[in-house]
Amino acid sequence: MRLPIIAHRLYIAKFDETMAASVRENSLDEDNRRFIPDEVFETVEDARKAVSALIAFYAQKDAPQVYPVILRDGRHIGHVQAYPIKNGWEIGYHVAKPFTGNGYATEAVSAFLPRIMEQLGLTQIFALCHAENRASRRVLTKCGFSLAYEGMGAYHGKEEFICRYEYRPSKLEKMDAFFNARAEIYDSHMLGDLKLEGFYKAITACFDTPVNHLLDLGCGTGLELVGLFEKYPHMQVTGVDVSSIMLEQLRAKFPGRSLRLICDSYLEVDFGGSFDGVLSTYSLHHFSEKEKLALYRKIHAALQGEGIFVFGDYTVSTIEGQQEALDASRRKRQEQGVAEGECYHLDIPLTPETELRLIRAAGFAETQIVRQWENASLIIARKSGSFR
Ligand SMILES: C[S@@+](CC[C@H](N)C(=O)[O-])C[C@H]1O[C@@H](n2cnc3c(N)ncnc32)[C@H](O)[C@@H]1O
Repeated sequence: MRLPIIAHRLYIAKFDETMAASVRENSLDEDNRRFIPDEVFETVEDARKAVSALIAFYAQKDAPQVYPVILRDGRHIGHVQAYPIKNGWEIGYHVAKPFTGNGYATEAVSAFLPRIMEQLGLTQIFALCHAENRASRRVLTKCGFSLAYEGMGAYHGKEEFICRYEYRPSKLEKMDAFFNARAEIYDSHMLGDLKLEGFYKAITACFDTPVNHLLDLGCGTGLELVGLFEKYPHMQVTGVDVSSIMLEQLRAKFPGRSLRLICDSYLEVDFGGSFDGVLSTYSLHHFSEKEKLALYRKIHAALQGEGIFVFGDYTVSTIEGQQEALDASRRKRQEQGVAEGECYHLDIPLTPETELRLIRAAGFAETQIVRQWENASLIIARKSGSFR
């Protein structure tokens, strides 16, 4: 395997003989004693023997492959590993207590997964953890593992309440195909499962003066237009979406309304017209900062002087979360040979602050985060003038 594997805040390398002291130190925390007692090394000598064995395993087929996780400042904080089981390979990891709570395990496992799977020629990999190890379960879920079994089972030589997970990288889908395939169930997913009615009400409330001509980017089935058409029945809407079936649903939902629907990518198409409002909900979180900046410039140019742009979308609350999503999307593109810029269904949520920076850089005079939920934000940007 090509090493080191470089992630955002850490890297994964090979063990060497000098690491016995930090291996011992990292092994002594409470979680290790409770969940993986056979990986606790009370003395440096014990740790040294373990490190020598791990180094020897690197040259062996079908032997555990264990790699230290090291922060960019050189601190050794834990390890990731793959070890053979009866029907395949299992992944494992440990981040020492002083370093937990920072997302390092998720970052290390997500960087390690594609590389070790490629190295071992695997299409799936498993993970096992104690059912009470909530932190470990969260890491697996965040890394895309799904729960395959929960119940009694063998765990480090004892019968315990365990969880078995499995991971199979899903095939990336082209954006239009993704939404065409889900158009039928889309509204019930958004309103029934995700309970986003309040979000769409907040979108309607952003438009406090009549809108004559609205441009809706990634309009889908038009959930965001329901409240707006009630408020402004004579509004003309230009909707742009790559999914023809989502657009069919939209057209069927609003008989008699003034609609111009364009089945194309808003990154490519000329908006042709002058709008007093531009809206985009839950559509822009699939694109890079570079693509967004170009799009925000286009939106700015398409707006009349007093026009507003309303952004309502999936966002993350930290820069680390943003970087993780970006790294994961790059890795997926790489794994599946999809070039940057090709329109595939991949999530790259940014922080609301990054969105503000891009919207301002596109020339908007005023920007405001008007609502923020745990994983979504609502931003209003005004081309010129001031907020009332
Ligand atoms: C999650 S849906 C949101 C639909 C609607 N705005 C809503 O809030 O329910 C995302 C929509 O954006 C569309 N979309 C994604 N990328 C696009 C692009 N580059 N150009 C046009 N539409 C796009 C998808 O086809 C899909 O209909």
